[in-house]
Amino acid sequence: MKEDNKQKKLSDSTKNSIDNSTFAQFLVYQDEFVELYNCDSKLFENDNRTVDLVFADPPFGMNLDGFENILMKKCSGHTFLMTNERVLIPFSNKFIDYFVRMYAINTVIPNLISNKAPMQLADFVSEFRFGKTRFNNNKECFSNLIEAKKIRMIKQYSQNFDKQKSLFAFFFNHFTQEGDLILDPFCGSGSSLLAARQLKRKIIGFEIDSKSCQYAKNKLLQRELF
Ligand SMILES: C[S@@+](CC[C@H](N)C(=O)[O-])C[C@H]1O[C@@H](n2cnc3c(N)ncnc32)[C@H](O)[C@@H]1O
Repeated sequence: MKEDNKQKKLSDSTKNSIDNSTFAQFLVYQDEFVELYNCDSKLFENDNRTVDLVFADPPFGMNLDGFENILMKKCSGHTFLMTNERVLIPFSNKFIDYFVRMYAINTVIPNLISNKAPMQLADFVSEFRFGKTRFNNNKECFSNLIEAKKIRMIKQYSQNFDKQKSLFAFFFNHFTQEGDLILDPFCGSGSSLLAARQLKRKIIGFEIDSKSCQYAKNKLLQRELF
């Protein structure tokens, strides 16, 4: 049964990624700020827009070869890439001239083995910059902190939806202005979409998995709650 589901998922995503050179037909939700597409984000290559910020949270260990255009070349501002070093290092080497800094984000997960203290892990967000900085320093005194320390603990963070949302809000708030255009090529449950809309930023989200996409769409439709 599980295997069947996997097969179905695979054929859904394959269908979405190769049939068409345009992704407009995969639009599943749109409002004043958000466009959500249920397809392979590589299709964004065919769009003639550039974006002010990319925030990419790819699946763990995913090979990012082939994503260079959408992650880096279509961005005129900052690209943030959340990933482990196995994926990051070969990918970043191609863009080393644009690398700015790395942020460490404290992740706390319950220690299920000993049932005692929680384990601490660090997720890393790497920042690349293409063009003029869009750093927005009128809200908090963040610039001094990151200048002083290249690696900075930002905030407690876990895979929980609201915490993801506040993580996105943190970066969107500091590195974009109202009305700017953001791309999230792996938007999963849609926390980035909610965060952007709340901050009056425009965002284009891609999610290849139909179930996650539906989840994101439902969250977006519950407008009054977010
Ligand atoms: C780590 S999750 C993102 C979690 C997300 N930040 C959230 O708030 O829920 C990565 C997502 O990327 C999606 N994905 C993987 N390959 C993709 C592709 N080529 N295009 C679009 N989405 C993709 C997966 O289905 C998965 O939901």
